[in-house]
Amino acid sequence: MAQETLTITDNRTQQTYTLPIDKGTVRAMDLRQIKTSPEDFGLMTYDPAFMNTASCRSNITFIDGDRGILRYRGYPIEVLAEQCTFLEVAYLILFGDLPNEVELKTWVKEITHHTMLHESTKKFMEHFRYDAHPMAMLVSTVAALSTIYPEARDIHDPDNRLLQIKRLIGKMPSIAAMSYRHSLGFPYVYPDNDLNYSENFMNMLWKMVEPKYVANSVLARALDILFILHADHEQNCSANVMRSVGSAQADPYLTTAAAAGALSGPLHGGANEEVLKMLDEIGSKENVPAYIKRTKEGHGKLMGFGHRIYKNYDPRATIIKWTAEQVFKVTGRNPKLDIALELERIALEDDYFIKRKLYPNVDFYSGIIYQAMGFKPEMFTVLFAIPRTVGWLAQWQEMLADTDQKIARPRQIYTGHEVREFLPMGKRAPVAATAG
Ligand SMILES: CC(C)(COP(=O)(O)OP(=O)(O)OC[C@H]1O[C@@H](n2cnc3c(N)ncnc32)[C@H](O)[C@@H]1OP(=O)(O)O)[C@@H](O)C(=O)NCCC(=O)NCCS
Repeated sequence: MAQETLTITDNRTQQTYTLPIDKGTVRAMDLRQIKTSPEDFGLMTYDPAFMNTASCRSNITFIDGDRGILRYRGYPIEVLAEQCTFLEVAYLILFGDLPNEVELKTWVKEITHHTMLHESTKKFMEHFRYDAHPMAMLVSTVAALSTIYPEARDIHDPDNRLLQIKRLIGKMPSIAAMSYRHSLGFPYVYPDNDLNYSENFMNMLWKMVEPKYVANSVLARALDILFILHADHEQNCSANVMRSVGSAQADPYLTTAAAAGALSGPLHGGANEEVLKMLDEIGSKENVPAYIKRTKEGHGKLMGFGHRIYKNYDPRATIIKWTAEQVFKVTGRNPKLDIALELERIALEDDYFIKRKLYPNVDFYSGIIYQAMGFKPEMFTVLFAIPRTVGWLAQWQEMLADTDQKIARPRQIYTGHEVREFLPMGKRAPVAATAG
């Protein structure tokens, strides 16, 4: 019978070591015994950007990038997007199973109960500059919630943690909507607890003088589906930040703000905003071949294309394309769709993209839907952050309960000077202080 072990010979010493293999993984710490002398620190692994390192065991989200599979707690994303509401999926992601009717009712009530923001949070947001980026406002305000709920620091109390989780999921749409209204110079709208999660978000975004906001049911459902698709994505950049900052036992507001900061980057959640900028830059279908040629020559990337994990197709992109059709029946077709479809068509037939396994990802079509719904591109990443908060919090809870985990602290390969002689001021040569 095949043994689940790995035998390594160190050619520096001719010593042989046998390491256990568990779930296709060797423990990096098992390499530490491989030394050239007793004083030697021991062998480490070098893995910039975590290309081949599992940082945790997780039972939340499963992705098979080669086969284009995404599942939350074992359920295919396609089934969840078709059958469930976002808060139902949030419950599944956080607690491991789908809620029954009573559990869901209680859960929805509890989240709805926490949609209100403290007046000091509202005042805090009023003082952002008129042109502040909504994502920067969201990140700062989520961090500022830590000042309103100082008890959140007791992360060892499960009941306390759950209360903060409910608060964060409830308040995220309220903060997102306020950041949107602030950037337009409109007064803030308070939550309406008669409405469901997505409808209430739309109410806080778009209510003007009407006494009661009535959300378009197709758009509300589309938003809910988009929230489901974005709820978790295992160990992506922001989830890794959530776990890393959380491992230092910072409170969940500061930890979530850190994760949202990672999400704001154009290589992560910020990509959907970049897709719209790119489509604007391309301008029309006829310009697509020239733009692709430029990309292949190394001038920039096709935003919304490529993924570290998906090397076949991104299953979320398929659902989003379907959702886009439903949305366009209400809003009219976004003219950018034609450019996007042409870009996708040409890229998928091109050797450069085929060889590198570059396919449209979740961000490629989501921005076009958001724009058709009336959002400015600056809001797109904020729309991503609302549902991803659920995934971050589930990853955070799992990390805190995992006895294998400690404060996250990678090693480095030091490439700097050996010890140097200190030079007094008068003897130092000029050094240009450049950023690079
Ligand atoms: C998502 C992303 C960061 C993954 O990066 P990665 O796994 O580190 O992949 P790499 O950057 O190593 O890319 C591998 C190759 O494909 C190319 N490539 C990757 N994404 C590309 C894109 N969007 N357009 C054109 N070329 C791309 C790289 O230049 C590289 O080519 P090379 O082998 O000739 O050097 C990357 O594909 C990207 O930047 N995409 C655009 C941003 C985006 O849509 N992000 C949202 C992710 S959900």
